[in-house]
Amino acid sequence: MKIKTTSSLLLFPTLLLAGCRATTPSPTETKAIDWTKHHLTIGGKKDINPEKPTADNIADGKDLFTSYCMVCHGLDGQNTGVPFATVVSPPIPSLASADVQAYTDGQLKWIIENGISPSGMPPSKGDFSTREIWHMVLYIRHLPKTGSLGTPAIYAGAAK
Ligand code: HEC
Repeated sequence: MKIKTTSSLLLFPTLLLAGCRATTPSPTETKAIDWTKHHLTIGGKKDINPEKPTADNIADGKDLFTSYCMVCHGLDGQNTGVPFATVVSPPIPSLASADVQAYTDGQLKWIIENGISPSGMPPSKGDFSTREIWHMVLYIRHLPKTGSLGTPAIYAGAAK
């Protein structure tokens, strides 16, 4: 009995120290955050996109994306010309990346509606109709080649 108490008392400060480490997340921790986002935090997994990937629907999604989301994601959804994309924490991911493309259409819609907290990804619920959000999801599935649309006009002057 006595021995047990002593050893748990010794263990306690060790755990406390381990818990208070203020370091950047290790690759394993980042993986765990990704897994949690993909499986738990982000809703809408089973929602099916009712909008067909026709040229018109994709073009509508592109129009919306390139007028609103481009401030942070670039015209191509791959951060082209966005000066702060890699500086912010978490950095703005390329929407063409395998990680983002691994979301279901329903999860992408959920992300657009609810945003991701705590990060710079804002919620858009109320700004767009449901149909418009599905069209943006279609655009995210059909992104153009990296850099092919150039730099958003708002940054063009500053780009070097
Ligand atoms: C003010 C900047 C900003 C705007 C505007 C913005 N986003 Fe984001 N977005 C972010 C940031 C920052 C992240 C990274 C969030 C994270 O990983 O936690 C992100 C992530 C995402 C992701 C990927 C989520 C993930 O888990 O990797 C998608 C999809 C996305 N945004 C779509 C959009 C769409 C569509 C719009 C326009 C309706 C938009 N965003 C507008 C900043 C923005």
